[in-house]
Amino acid sequence: MTKLNTWLSQTKPLIAVIVINDIKHAVPMAKALVAGGIHLLEVTLRTPAGLAAIKQISQHVPGAIVGAGTICTAQDYQNAIDAGSQFIVSPGLTPALIEKAQQVKAAKQWDGIFLPGVATASELMIAVDAGFTQLKCFPASAIGGEKLLKAWSGPFPDVEFCPTGGISLDNYQDYLALPNVICAGGSWLVNSELLDNEDWAEITQRALAINKAV
Ligand code: 3PG
Repeated sequence: MTKLNTWLSQTKPLIAVIVINDIKHAVPMAKALVAGGIHLLEVTLRTPAGLAAIKQISQHVPGAIVGAGTICTAQDYQNAIDAGSQFIVSPGLTPALIEKAQQVKAAKQWDGIFLPGVATASELMIAVDAGFTQLKCFPASAIGGEKLLKAWSGPFPDVEFCPTGGISLDNYQDYLALPNVICAGGSWLVNSELLDNEDWAEITQRALAINKAV
């Protein structure tokens, strides 16, 4: 049982992948999602506002479980921890990230969750060898989607996945129905138009509707 399992026992298995362009959107958007029952918030470091957004959400949004996404280097990993991330997500897994994650763990510096990304059986096996059995499957729809995840359940029965990438309102339930999928994520949980329009009430309403369907 990992911390991710604990969170998933308390909230719906959905991770909102968020790109913050304007730092002033971070806190109201996170509050709107939490009010809609979406608690796992992955703020990507794709924009300069990413780290500051994580910091503000972790300090000002009770109920949010905030993580950092698009972690590609050991320095990103450290920055994500310093900003207050409770989980870290990477699109892949490099030797430098494995080393950093192991160092941080050995130093008992952080008690969060690292979800490395995999796209092939060999990458999955490298991740398992490094001690990771809960993995992001990315970019899920482009590399085979549900068919791939079903196929992996044969040789890798102990590995659990959080698929992201190309998942939508139309198919997230199909992913969640797979026994080796513990949560699904993506940018489809936060409509970027609503974010740009600062329509927090509608973001909450949509989150509630998605939640109800899970
Ligand atoms: C991610 O980083 O997980 C993806 O970019 C999310 O993919 P999506 O935008 O297709 O949902």
